[in-house]
Amino acid sequence: MKEIGVILLAAGQGTRMKSNLPKVLHRLGGKPLFLHALGTARELKPSRVAIVIGHGAEAVREAYCEQGVNWVVQKKQLGTGHAVLCVKGHFCGFTGDLLILSGDVPLFKEQTLRAMVRAHRERNAALTLMTAVLDAPMGYGRILRDMCGEISGIVEERDATDAQKRVQEVNAGAYVASPEFLFAALEQVDNKNRQGEYYLPDVVTIGLTQGKRIATFRVDDSREMLGINTREELAAMEKALQEQINRKWMNDGVTLQDPQTTYIEDGVSIGRDTVIGPNSHLRGRTIIGERCQIDGSAYLTDTELEDEVHLRFSVVLTSCRVARGAIIGPFAHLRPGTSLGRDVHIGNFVECKEATLGEGTKANHLSYLGDVTVGKQTNIGAGTITCNYDGFKKYRTSIGDRVQVGSDTTLVAPISLGDDVYVATATTIRHDIPAGALVFNDREERVREGWTEQKRNKMRGSKN
Ligand code: UD1
Ligand code: CA
Repeated sequence: MKEIGVILLAAGQGTRMKSNLPKVLHRLGGKPLFLHALGTARELKPSRVAIVIGHGAEAVREAYCEQGVNWVVQKKQLGTGHAVLCVKGHFCGFTGDLLILSGDVPLFKEQTLRAMVRAHRERNAALTLMTAVLDAPMGYGRILRDMCGEISGIVEERDATDAQKRVQEVNAGAYVASPEFLFAALEQVDNKNRQGEYYLPDVVTIGLTQGKRIATFRVDDSREMLGINTREELAAMEKALQEQINRKWMNDGVTLQDPQTTYIEDGVSIGRDTVIGPNSHLRGRTIIGERCQIDGSAYLTDTELEDEVHLRFSVVLTSCRVARGAIIGPFAHLRPGTSLGRDVHIGNFVECKEATLGEGTKANHLSYLGDVTVGKQTNIGAGTITCNYDGFKKYRTSIGDRVQVGSDTTLVAPISLGDDVYVATATTIRHDIPAGALVFNDREERVREGWTEQKRNKMRGSKN
């Protein structure tokens, strides 16, 4: 079987985005734009991959940490034809087929690309280019055909006559070519056009004059070839992508109460009979079990929920693990490194960070639990604070099983409380407490009867 080489064009600035960020780094479905086309192309198992970068080259390169690709810098963006010529050196001695894609066209399906490569091979063509028929072809290069319906050239929107602009068949911007033909033809491309650029599609006319076989491959679903050139197009595609993902999860047995405001990224997985309320964001590598309930306004990133977890309204969870049956929120913030055991309850205005809570433990109101390990069946009273930071270093707190932490407790770390400790309310603890002990701060409680009335009388007297 012939090898496949991939060339991905991603050097352009994307002027129409009006952005300081290179276009291919704008995010679609939670990841930089160009990674969509790159991911699909790599599914074809190419033996060589070259990515042409230019605008924000360093940042683009950093957005893809996997190995096995050649980064080629196109210093000046002189056009798509020039961009392809820049990678010539990486395909010395390469005799396979070259697949050329754009970083700003994200939705091609693997099967579509495979079918195009197959068509190219079957027809023994020097170049095969993908076309599509659009109701609104504006902005795309138009396909010109002769009396017999054979392709005779491509004209860019800006160079087209009014009659040519009415052509609805467009250049989809994906090509398969023999390297020998392609690089030789590109040497002949000039920049005598409205944009003063070296156009890759010009190799079509060059090939035809050389008597080479130039084939076209029409994509059935033209939505696949839509490119992103403006922010409006980016938003429209984001919506389309989201609808597709949401539909998939609903078909797999997940209830989305308001799909319009449910945002699920590509890498997420969700178990059956889970119910997800409005304005929920499931991001990164989030994994949700079966029969979970997410009330709404939830923002989850890289978080794992086992089965039957209930997230009440308005919670933020980042890099957390939550075991079966836990109930969280409303208004809770679980930060990275939080791990909650079975049936843990986290109530309103509770923040956790690097916190491990054992089975059945509860922190129901107004607490900060940071750098802490708590055992099983412990109750953390309202207003408990772990003082984990002295302005220089972070310290850990450890709390045993079945501990009763009274309201308004201050735990000054590093500190450890044994099992079955009983902390009286309003205690500041600075030393380790042995298992089974009671701890309280000895503060005298003083009472002055009739004090309020005396005070009021005094104040009234001073006013008159
Ligand atoms: C291009 C095609 C057009 C086709 C459309 C399909 C050309 C001249 N026109 O137009 O026929 O209908 O794609 O989407 O090819 N790039 C570089 N270096 C450059 C210029 C561009 O790497 O010097 C990259 C861009 O980053 C982008 C891709 O090439 O990823 C396409 O360039 P763009 O300017 O978006 O071309 P279109 O006007 O969309
Ligand atoms: Ca484009």
